[in-house]
Formats: sequence, structure tokens, C-alpha cells
Amino acid sequence: MERIRVNLEKTRNDSYGIYVGHGILDHLRLIHRIQDYVDRYVIITDSVVNPLYGKTVKDKLQEAALPVDIIEIQAGEPSKSIGTVLDVVKKLMNLKASRKSFLIALGGGVVGDLTGFVASIFKRSIPYVQIATSLVAQVDSSVGGKTGIDLAEGKNLLGTFYQPKAVFIDLSFLKTLSDRDFKNGLAEIIKYGIISDEEMFELLEQEKDAIFNRQPALMKTLVERSCKIKANIVEADEQEGGLRRILNFGHTLGHAVEAASDYRLSHGEAVAIGTVAAARISHILGYLDDQSCKRIVHVIKQYGLPARIPAGFSTKEILAFMASDKKAVGAKLHFVLIKKIGDPFVTDEVPPDIITDVIEELRT
Ligand SMILES: NC(=O)c1ccc[n+]([C@@H]2O[C@H](COP(=O)([O-])OP(=O)(O)OC[C@H]3O[C@@H](n4cnc5c(N)ncnc54)[C@H](O)[C@@H]3O)[C@@H](O)[C@H]2O)c1
Repeated sequence: MERIRVNLEKTRNDSYGIYVGHGILDHLRLIHRIQDYVDRYVIITDSVVNPLYGKTVKDKLQEAALPVDIIEIQAGEPSKSIGTVLDVVKKLMNLKASRKSFLIALGGGVVGDLTGFVASIFKRSIPYVQIATSLVAQVDSSVGGKTGIDLAEGKNLLGTFYQPKAVFIDLSFLKTLSDRDFKNGLAEIIKYGIISDEEMFELLEQEKDAIFNRQPALMKTLVERSCKIKANIVEADEQEGGLRRILNFGHTLGHAVEAASDYRLSHGEAVAIGTVAAARISHILGYLDDQSCKRIVHVIKQYGLPARIPAGFSTKEILAFMASDKKAVGAKLHFVLIKKIGDPFVTDEVPPDIITDVIEELRT
């Protein structure tokens, strides 16, 4: 028997910059320096963001004297679908996009996840950047290269790890964001505070009014600190083999109530409920002191996020969704718990009756 070896040992540099601040759009010309031999730019954006910012971004990119086109998708989670992927690919073909074309994701997490996915598979991959316009995208989804779409069977079931070439975060985008979407982003910022940054958690406790008013300097601090935390975790564990799983704090129960609500609860609202559950489980199992647990519940409530499971969901139903979640490895559910604010760990040792008790407690 012959053995022919395919030598593919390689070092690849996928590093990239996250540009955060006010007026970042004025620096978009940086994109032209990221990649040589680009033949055209295609902005992928949604039906809410396009009328607000599509033309501004297009005009800025046109400075390079290359063709710039816009593909608009319907705003909202249902667009993270295989149908939209095929539609976008068809439009890219009509635009004669090639392997030298460059995608610009202009929008929130839906546009970012979808564009990253298309970029990773179109003509066996083309480069893309993220221009993050929602708070969720600015603190979470635009960084780390997780791309994906949903299937009828569940969220994010098809996807790739494919890093953007850069991330642009202009905090001025936040001015037009709805309160509900703003709060969704705050839920993720609270999560970062709990898993990694007690000082930022304290800032969240102390500066409620200024944060609600989207005070620019404070928002810059929160977004920058969140991006740094996410970047550090992604650097250590790009493909979620270990450490990156701590980013799922609040998500084990969060995903289940989100799915059980048929996505009427937003992701941020669901993660807020999951955060309370994770704090309660941490306390009941003797890891987290009572005062820290109460502080977490207080911060969630302070930002108008739900701390309890709304009426209409049965414990059985929630447990069933938890069991079918892709994070349930084997028969055991993985939870991210904390020993104190800033000190998380992953465990599959939470006794089932404690999970049931906490769901019951949060339902009453
Ligand atoms: N890839 C990751 O690591 C990761 C992490 C977290 C979340 N996600 C995904 O991100 C998605 C949620 O992201 P999202 O909350 O940004 O949702 P989204 O993209 O649907 O944006 C929410 C709404 O805000 C609108 N919007 C965005 N920017 C705006 C602005 N500046 N002004 C006015 N309206 C604006 C959008 O049009 C949309 O209607 C989910 O699909 C989730 O799975 C991915």
C-alpha cells in the first residue's frame, strides 16, 4: 500500500482591527488598504439600515473608484435563512461578483452573520468586513468570526468560523436604534461584566441614567471594553473548544426560553432571564454569595430586562428545548456558572432537580 502525504502544515494570519469611536465612517477608506486587487465592493444591508446609512457608506467607498453595489435583505431574524443566502448569491452573480470581490456587512447581527456566511462559501470564500450598526453587533456578533443561518430545526445550525478583515464600530449608529434593540445589546454587556469585568459591572450599576441616554463617552467605554473581552476570549479559543464557551453565560436557559417563546422574546430578553437562572444556580450550589446574586438580578431589572420567565411557558417545555439545544453535549447540559462576578467556569454537573427548581422559581 502506498501512502501519499498531503502536506498542509501552515501558519495563517487572520488578525484584524476593530475600529471603535465616533465618526468611524470617515475612516472607511481604510478598507481599501486591507486587501489588494479588489474588483468591486458589495454592501449587504437590511431594509431598516439601508435607508438610514446605505448611501453614506456607498459614497465613502466610492472614493476608491471601484464599483460599489448594495444588496438589501428584509430586516429581521427570518432573513438568516438558506433562502436569503441563495437570493444574495444570485444577486452577486448578476453583479458579476468574482473571487476578487469584497463584501461589506452593514447592519446588526443578522446582516453580519449572513454576510459572513455568504463570504465564507461564495466561490470558496471571499473577504468581508463588518460595519456593526446595532449594539448587539457592536459588542458581540461582529467580532469573532462566527457566521451562520437558522434552519426550521433551530438557530445557527448552518455556519462557519470565518473572520472578517476588519470591524468598524461607529457609535453614532446607536442614535437611531430602537429601545428594545438597545436593551438587547445591554444584556450582552451585562454578561461581559459578570463573566470578566467587575469594574464594568459596577459602572452598569452606577450609571443607569447616562447609559439609558446613550451618553457617547460611556457607550464608547462599554463597547470598547466588551470588544476587548470578546477579542481576548476569541484569541485564546477561536473555535469554542473551551474558554469561548464562557461567552454562553446565560444562554443555556436563555436559548430554551427564546425558542419556547417562538422568538417573541428577543435574544437579549431571553439571555437576561438565563443570566438570572445562571446566577441563582451558582448561588444554590454554593459557589456565589447571596449579595452578588442579588446584584446581578438588580442590574437586569434596572435596565428593564426581564428577570423572570413570562407566563405561558411550562417547565416541561423549557426543559425539552434545553435538551434539544446543540450545547447539550451527550445527555448532559452544560452551564456556565460563576464563583464571583468576573470568575466563570463551565460545568455539566448541575443536578437536574436544581435546574427544574430554578425554572419553577423563575416562573412564579
Ligand atoms: N456571530 C456571533 O457571534 C453572534 C453573537 C451574538 C448574536 N448573534 C446573532 O445576531 C443576531 C441578533 O443581532 P441584532 O440584535 O443586531 O439583530 P438585527 O440584525 O436583526 O438588528 C435588530 C434590528 O435593529 C435594526 N438596526 C440595526 N442597526 C440599526 C441602527 N443603527 N439604527 C436603527 N435600526 C438598526 C435592524 O434593522 C433590525 O431591525 C441573531 O441572529 C444572533 O444569533 C451572533
